[in-house]
Order: sequence, then C-alpha cells, then structure tokens
Amino acid sequence: MSVDLAVIPVAGLGTRLLPATKSQPKEMLPVGRKPVVQYVVEELAANGIRRSLFVTGPGKHSIENHFDIDDVLIDFLRRSGREELLPDLLFERQNMQYAYVRQRRQLGLGHAVLCAEPFVGRQPFVVALGDSIIGRHAQSRIVQRMIEVFEESDASAVIAFEHVDPEHVHHYGIARPKGDCQADVFRLDDVVEKPEPEEAPSTLAVAARYVFRPVVFDALRRTVPGKGGEIQLTDAVRDLIRAGHTVLGVNLGAGERRYDIGNFSSYFSAFIEFALTDEREGARLRSTVRELLEQLEDSSSPEAS
Ligand code: UTP
Repeated sequence: MSVDLAVIPVAGLGTRLLPATKSQPKEMLPVGRKPVVQYVVEELAANGIRRSLFVTGPGKHSIENHFDIDDVLIDFLRRSGREELLPDLLFERQNMQYAYVRQRRQLGLGHAVLCAEPFVGRQPFVVALGDSIIGRHAQSRIVQRMIEVFEESDASAVIAFEHVDPEHVHHYGIARPKGDCQADVFRLDDVVEKPEPEEAPSTLAVAARYVFRPVVFDALRRTVPGKGGEIQLTDAVRDLIRAGHTVLGVNLGAGERRYDIGNFSSYFSAFIEFALTDEREGARLRSTVRELLEQLEDSSSPEAS
C-alpha cells in the first residue's frame, strides 16, 4: 500500500476523565485487558501500517514504555516458570516501527497533527486518534478501505464517519455530504464542528480515523485558533474543501463502531462490552452481571421498599 505511516495524537489532557487521568494518560486506560492505545496500534498493524508516530506530551511516558521490548520482564516470566503469560507480550514484537514527537503546548488536535510535519514530510499519512478504538476488540478494516479509496481517487483527505443519535451530534464533527450519504463512500461539502441537533447537516460524525495528503499541513498553518487558542483539525478540513480539494467520507461498516474513550459514559460502555466478550473471562462475567442486575432490579422494585 502507498500509505504505511500513521500519526497518533496522544498529547491531550483528558480532562473529561478526571480524576482517572490526573497522573496517567487516558490513552493508557484499560478497556477489558488492554490499554486503549494498544488496540489502536494493533488495528493499524492489521491494516498495513508499519510506522507509528506518536504526538505525545507531559505525563505520557507510559505510552512509550508500553511499546518497548521489556527483556527484563520476559526473562522474569521465564525464570519464574510463567511462560504461559508470554503471549500477552507478543504485541511488543508486531511489525511496527515507533517514533515520538512532543506537542510542547496544548493547542488542540490540529496543532498536534502539525507537530508531526517535520517527520512526515511530503508523504500521505493516516491520523488515528489515540483515544478511540474502532470495532469490538479493534476488529476493523476501515483504515485499509480508506487507503484504497485514497489511492483510487484524487482526494486530499479521506475521513471515517459513523451515524450517531441526533442528541449526540454536538459532541462531534458532523458531515454535510454532497448527494447520497448512504453510500459507503461519499463526497463532503462541509464538516461542521459540534453543531446543535437542529443545525446539524446530518447525523454522520467524524470517527477518529483520517488519511491526508501533506497539503493538510498548509491548511493547518492557515487555520485561525478557536476557543482556548486551539487549532481544530476540522477547520483545516473545511479549509481544504473551500479551496476546492476533494474530501471523501467512508462509512464504518457493520460491526465497526467507534468506541470513544474520551468521556466516562462511552468509556464505561466500551469497558463493559469488551469485558463481557472477553475470550477468557467473558462467559463467567456475563453470569455474574446477570445476577448483579437481578439483585439491583429486586432492590429497586416497589415491593423491596
Ligand atoms: P480530545 O479532543 O478528546 O481532547 O482529544 P483532550 O484534551 O485529550 O480531552 P479533554 O477534552 O480534556 O477531555 C482527542 C485526541 O487528540 C489528542 C488526545 O490525546 C486524544 O487522543 N490531542 C488533543 C492531542 O494530542 N493534543 C491536543 O492538544 C488535544
């Protein structure tokens, strides 16, 4: 494939998940048995990405440590006769090269992507948000499909979208598609950041994965900082559309929903779903949860009071 590089922004403060994120990155929060960012990198590896460039910031060292090869730990597990745990560390050896760049000031997602420019240069690249998993247990081929669409078109950007409930549109960038948005691939007329439901041009929300030509860096440099001095990636995408560039949307497929680990509501839902479907613990946990739900229902029924 022509695109084998992904930029993974992980420098955000994660304030919506305080206190959990006070001294650990939200991208390292576990969802089931793995931290969020491990799912992201495994998904990218399965989609043909071979180079991951993290945009990191203060307090994010545990992300770098997580992808290092830990010979001391491996040796310890062998010496203490716990070889059965070694497969859990196989991700350390997946076919991926890692690089890290710092976002030295918190100036938003667009600025984080701009921090990657000296390393990306003039090649096309993927952006994968480090706080979002696509597909249950990261079983998704959306990035591969987006790269194929990118290769077959003259698009300057290809963006993943998924339908959300109308009451949730104000959390996301929302597409104004040109023509038929039910198609798997559609052209964008505009993308509106966090609209009110009555003003939303559709219910198609940006879903944390992008493919860009390097022209996006020029658009980001032109982007005027918004609230809190932040440079929004969505504004740079709008700039590209207005300048006449082709920007395409690709809908997530069935079974490929986005798990947004940026707020407690969707983090809790994702954790429950991943734990209940865990290969080793899921069956036992499902029966525990059934009992617990029955108890909770009994104790909240009118007869119990
Ligand atoms: P969010 O938009 O959720 O922002 O980031 P945030 O600052 O992390 O979270 P809140 O709003 O304070 O709760 C989406 C992704 O972009 C990265 C984050 O690390 C996350 O993976 N990001 C965000 C950056 O790398 N730099 C930034 O300045 C902002």
